[in-house]
Amino acid sequence: MGYRLGRVLIPEAAIQQRLRELADVISREYADRDLLLICVLKGAAIFWADLCRALSIPCQSDFVAMESYGDATAPQAEPRFTKAATVDLAGRNILVVEDIIDTGHTITHLRQLLEARRPRSLRLCALLDKAERREVQVPIEYCGFLIPNAFVVGYGLDYAQQYRHLRDIAVLEAEAEP
Ligand code: IMP
Repeated sequence: MGYRLGRVLIPEAAIQQRLRELADVISREYADRDLLLICVLKGAAIFWADLCRALSIPCQSDFVAMESYGDATAPQAEPRFTKAATVDLAGRNILVVEDIIDTGHTITHLRQLLEARRPRSLRLCALLDKAERREVQVPIEYCGFLIPNAFVVGYGLDYAQQYRHLRDIAVLEAEAEP
């Protein structure tokens, strides 16, 4: 089955406005703490790039990538990084920057891996929350938008590595068979 870009769910202006609101709250709450942003590749790259430049406080950044776990109903192998953080996380105030929380499995695994490195604090900033699909409960301290159960692309989010460059977030639709 083919797919095509459908309607715009969140236009660029709305993303940028929400991003400034999140950056203001984060800047206030981390004003007197050293902040380490952990960007989860690849989907959060564009969100991270805009978010860190909208902060009014200093921060450091590092990048991680997770092995995709595939079918969540299959027996789980130990979750692993395909790219681990390179800075020492012990005693740091970590803010994980994610694109979307769907079932919640990826961020749950990531939290476990990061907590093992003994940070001082660990919070999550997710641009999108597809709460209807949740299978494991996940606290999201800073959330951009609650979205319905649809597959979305753009602003870093992909389908088969496509559409990450779009400025809006749009719904991906199945193409009718000819
Ligand atoms: P979870 O483990 O089910 O919460 O899935 C999180 C990951 O699945 C995200 O970091 C994305 O990479 C991917 N994902 C989930 N929903 C979407 C979507 O609607 N568009 C693009 N990627 C998605």
